[in-house]
Amino acid sequence: MSKYRSKKYHISTYGCQMNVYDSEILAGYLENMNYTFTEEEEDADVLIINTCAVREKAEEKVFSKLGRLRSLKIAKPEMNLVLWGCMVQQENVIRRIKNKFGFVDLAAGTHSLKRFPELLEKARLSPKTVFDLETEEEKEELPIKRGHNIKAWVPVTYGCNNFCSYCIVPHVRGLEKSRLPQNIINEVKGLIVKGYKEITLLGQNVNSYGKGLKQNINFAELLNLLDRLEGQFLIRYLTSHPRDFSDDIISIIQQGQKICEHFHLPLQSGSNNILDLMNRGYTREYYLELIEKIRNQVANNSITTDIIVGFPGETKKDFEDTLDMLEKIRFDAAYIFVYSPRKGTKAAKMKKQVPENIKKRRIVLLNEIQNKISMEINKLLLGTEQQILVEGKSKTDPSVFTGRTRTNKIVHLSADKNLIGKFVNVEITETKSWTLAGNLKHII
Ligand code: 5AD
Ligand code: SF4
Repeated sequence: MSKYRSKKYHISTYGCQMNVYDSEILAGYLENMNYTFTEEEEDADVLIINTCAVREKAEEKVFSKLGRLRSLKIAKPEMNLVLWGCMVQQENVIRRIKNKFGFVDLAAGTHSLKRFPELLEKARLSPKTVFDLETEEEKEELPIKRGHNIKAWVPVTYGCNNFCSYCIVPHVRGLEKSRLPQNIINEVKGLIVKGYKEITLLGQNVNSYGKGLKQNINFAELLNLLDRLEGQFLIRYLTSHPRDFSDDIISIIQQGQKICEHFHLPLQSGSNNILDLMNRGYTREYYLELIEKIRNQVANNSITTDIIVGFPGETKKDFEDTLDMLEKIRFDAAYIFVYSPRKGTKAAKMKKQVPENIKKRRIVLLNEIQNKISMEINKLLLGTEQQILVEGKSKTDPSVFTGRTRTNKIVHLSADKNLIGKFVNVEITETKSWTLAGNLKHII
């Protein structure tokens, strides 16, 4: 190995898009320090695991990964092993790191980005794990190495105030804070100049954007300002809270040119009793009305959702109410999760936790029903022409390219690499529950 070999880094990212964005910031710092990215963990001088705490499964994956990395760290003690993000913001996890994974060099939470270079330096000099568990930080003007050159993530809010009773996010990411509109607009303008074609606005509850800012602005107004920027690009946003999805937002989406007609509205449960225990702040009747408004006002829309099965106290009747909502609403797609108790949340302490075998049965049944519905909805697109943005090569088959419709449906097609970043029309020739396939018709 050459003495002048450049230093390398590798980042494994778990969880949501906000984590993907945070990893891009960490990569930005490392590239500024002249590190280059490597696909191979064994080759890395700095190895970062950016963690998710939303469900136990994601945490267990990280702990078993750490177990596997023990021998690598012993063989390569000069490698810096960094555990980052949401998991680290929990006391029980810190205890477990101290007891079992003392070979981790640095363990830092979601509010430590700005101090990453000094923390890394400190960790190098410390024989023990360095912990950094701040609860707040200013996140403007951080370096960034974006992972994609067509699609970019732009946070609009950090944290969450909702305290849904099952959810760990407010406990690990802190309370909601909106970014200044000018900072968001400047970031988006910069991305458009660089040729980005799809901007996804990020936040745990983007619909409540603007609360707490001196300036009087809400999410609908922010969307409107971004929609009016010059250039050919799309605007998406994640995640919405049905309670805060105002009529103004629906109108702006209907009037806007660039805002995609895809509505991701996590329902979580179809039972009013469970929605109340979840502290969601809406009823099934309210949700049905919201769906009706969207469908009446916005043409060619798609609606997707998140569902949790097996929340404490979920009876057969509560579950049937959820099933009934899937059948009534007919979502384009639903992400269905088994309830996972999270230490420190209200729901974890609730009595009547649902046995694992019942949760499993319920998720299987909902997935079966939803897959059938998604299949039927997608089938209606057979033979139609759809506009998509070509994003890149498929991960599983490099001869196939992928794009997405404005409604966020993945389309596979044969194309060539010059089409990456272009808007094209495709004729849909094949449809499945989660993906479509089509033939290129023309470039727009
Ligand atoms: N258990 C299972 N699913 C959860 N989610 C959030 N917290 C939990 C939990 N404790 C799901 C919700 C949310 C999605 C991102 O993850 O459906 O919308
Ligand atoms: Fe969690 Fe609810 Fe906040 Fe979403 S809105 S991050 S589910 S607390």
